[in-house]
Amino acid sequence: MNIIVSGCAGFIGSRVCEILINKGHSVIGIDNLNEAYDNKLKIYRLNKLKESDSFKYYKYDITDIASLENIFLNNSDIDAVINLAARAGVRASIQMPQEYINTNVVGTVNLLELCIKNNVTKFVQASTSSLYGENKTPFKEDMNTDRTLSPYAASKKAAENICYTYNKLYGIDISVLRYFTVYGPAGRPDMSPFRFIRWITEEEDLILYGDGNHERDFTYVDDIAEGTILALKKVGFEIINLGNDQPLKMKELISQIEVLTDKKARIINKSEQKADVHATWAEILKARNILGWEPKYNLEEGIALSVEWYKNNREFARSIDIALN
Ligand SMILES: NC(=O)c1ccc[n+]([C@@H]2O[C@H](COP(=O)([O-])OP(=O)(O)OC[C@H]3O[C@@H](n4cnc5c(N)ncnc54)[C@H](O)[C@@H]3O)[C@@H](O)[C@H]2O)c1
Repeated sequence: MNIIVSGCAGFIGSRVCEILINKGHSVIGIDNLNEAYDNKLKIYRLNKLKESDSFKYYKYDITDIASLENIFLNNSDIDAVINLAARAGVRASIQMPQEYINTNVVGTVNLLELCIKNNVTKFVQASTSSLYGENKTPFKEDMNTDRTLSPYAASKKAAENICYTYNKLYGIDISVLRYFTVYGPAGRPDMSPFRFIRWITEEEDLILYGDGNHERDFTYVDDIAEGTILALKKVGFEIINLGNDQPLKMKELISQIEVLTDKKARIINKSEQKADVHATWAEILKARNILGWEPKYNLEEGIALSVEWYKNNREFARSIDIALN
């Protein structure tokens, strides 16, 4: 297949591209390499992808429909679009809501419009567990998600609704995937797994929001990438959770990293963030039934692989700017 992946230099996007290429597909990657976090990491991921002849890269912004048109003009026979480009993260969305709405909503509409104009019949949209807000865990896809707690969650909810509209209006087949706290090698430096590994390994102060009892359903990046690729199948319109179904407290995550690094965390507690939900936990029956998907990595394995990556790339990893946002 010929597949467009937006956000190809991102944490999840780059792994989706790698696995697609390994499976024999051709990938057209789009990424504007924005400054949401240290670009060195995006360039590191992108350089690995550029080694393949099956990968073509466009440094375009998905909010700019004219440049996107150029991609569709120069690449016929596109089978599917996987839209992973986004402004991600809850806390930064409070500082720059417009950026989030532009990329996550306008960017999604642009890609959908071009799919319809160019007869692309399959669209996969990345969404988030954040939009479950304060629902009771475990989170099920049919729960009410109207009460979003951050501009990020609200922008993803809007994108989901736009996807539904395009499916109804034009019949384009759409899988919406709600990812749950994704972690793994070369992960996002604005997220706790990367930061905690860095802070503990380098014996730096570890900033912990809240008392460590927040729970997250941490899900390994390869599982997420495999699920995203399985979601290329024809489903009509479906919203599907991709999570590990095994939530963990933040303080337990810290303990595991302490064991793996043989170091003690220097925890500095800060007050809880208002837009952070207290706990996430995915019910994954739909992913099992519709996609035949099952998470393969438990947290011990996934965290061990993440710590191993950090140790093997330590010079590079400790040079990443993780200024708090
Ligand atoms: N990582 C998680 O835990 C998680 C959880 C839920 C949902 N998601 C979603 O998964 C997707 C991928 O997330 P990620 O963790 O890989 O984030 P990421 O920030 O590493 O990747 C997103 C990529 O999109 C690119 N991008 C952003 N705006 C763009 C634009 N306007 N035009 C072109 N490229 C643009 C960025 O440069 C970046 O490389 C996002 O849609 C995110 O909202 C991630």
